[in-house]
Amino acid sequence: MKETKKLNITKSQKLYKDALSLVPGGVLGARKPTDFINGEYPIFLDKGKGCRLIDVDGNEFIDFLCGYGPIILGYREKEVDDAVYKQINEKGFCFTLTQKYQNILAKKLTEIVPSSEMSIFLKTGSDATTASIRIARAHTNKLKVMRCGYHGWHDWCVEMKGGIPSKFYEDVFEFQYNNFEQLQDLMAVHGNETAAIIMTPFGHPNHKNMQIPVSGFLKGVRKIADKYGAVLIYDEIRTGFRLSMGGAQKFYGVTPDLTVLGKAMANGYPISVVTGKKDIMMAAEHKLFISSTFFPNSEAFIAALKTIEILERENVLKNIWEKGEKFMKSIQKMIDKHNVGAELTGVGPMFYITFKKDETGTYKNKRKDFYTQLIRKGFFFTPFHHAYISYRHTQKDLDAALNAINESFAFIKNKYI
Ligand SMILES: Cc1ncc(COP(=O)(O)O)c(C=O)c1O
Repeated sequence: MKETKKLNITKSQKLYKDALSLVPGGVLGARKPTDFINGEYPIFLDKGKGCRLIDVDGNEFIDFLCGYGPIILGYREKEVDDAVYKQINEKGFCFTLTQKYQNILAKKLTEIVPSSEMSIFLKTGSDATTASIRIARAHTNKLKVMRCGYHGWHDWCVEMKGGIPSKFYEDVFEFQYNNFEQLQDLMAVHGNETAAIIMTPFGHPNHKNMQIPVSGFLKGVRKIADKYGAVLIYDEIRTGFRLSMGGAQKFYGVTPDLTVLGKAMANGYPISVVTGKKDIMMAAEHKLFISSTFFPNSEAFIAALKTIEILERENVLKNIWEKGEKFMKSIQKMIDKHNVGAELTGVGPMFYITFKKDETGTYKNKRKDFYTQLIRKGFFFTPFHHAYISYRHTQKDLDAALNAINESFAFIKNKYI
């Protein structure tokens, strides 16, 4: 299998060079070239539509990152955008007081999300995970937190600790997904002082294989939270409106006390929410302060209501599950056929192709070559983050991606085996 020709990304690289003197690091966080494959991936995009992206050099990609999760329908989904334009044109969205859409969306969530009784709306996932911890601490009058998964960039949970006094995170303890014993051990020591257990209900640790819950894990965590009176928080920023309309909690049948949602809820517009049991949420009424200038802006509420309407009306998640499972089956067949040490984990709506670690570190080169071939062929998967499927991926798009994946595995086989 021949090597695919390198992309021309000169305009991206020029913009990046300029950005380095304007923005520390050029671009933020997971958008950095080092989080992809330096010199192979575009760094700046021009536009997108449906499941397609076009970069500033005019390269076109079928995208499987979905904006890192918010794009559940597709880029520039007309019906959602039109609803937002209408709101902006006819009523406006940024005011001194709150518009009614807050109530409508909060009510809707009570119908969809098992844990939802009351809601507080914010903007980002990090806003919402932090708010959920503050609510849990105020409700329980306890301090400690057990956490499992990525919960954003705020002081209590971010991995890189630069600029953060240790007292801000020293009462936060991490446990690994599906490692119930580890949580039990932590709770045996700290359980009586624990305000919250916050976890992703489906395992998607950064840069690692995805994990479905082993039998009894989620129920075990629920029980141990109850035993010590800790608030159980599900961080469903990625799984909400994706694994099912009611999130992973509905899918796996275990209900937390509080839930944090964001990303897919509004197909890209900035909104997140802490939603949960009334007696716990009410701690936010008198005991603490959550407010921000932009939190009540209604354009994202309108986008969320329209997105949810479309998800329900067109049974979008069923469509995504079916396409995703079929896609995964085909990839698994290729993995078995080529036998180059690749692994596939996850579920239909979100899945990840990785390479098994080996002592010589060859897996890193295979990973680099595999993803390099894919991006050169016009398929935007990345080595350090799982993929998503959206409503606007057609079977034709997915078949084209399968063909590219097959060729990329064949290339690796030819080169390494
Ligand atoms: C599970 C989870 N929680 C929290 C966050 C933080 O969300 P945000 O980046 O919107 O602050 C993310 C972001 O990727 C996430 O995946």
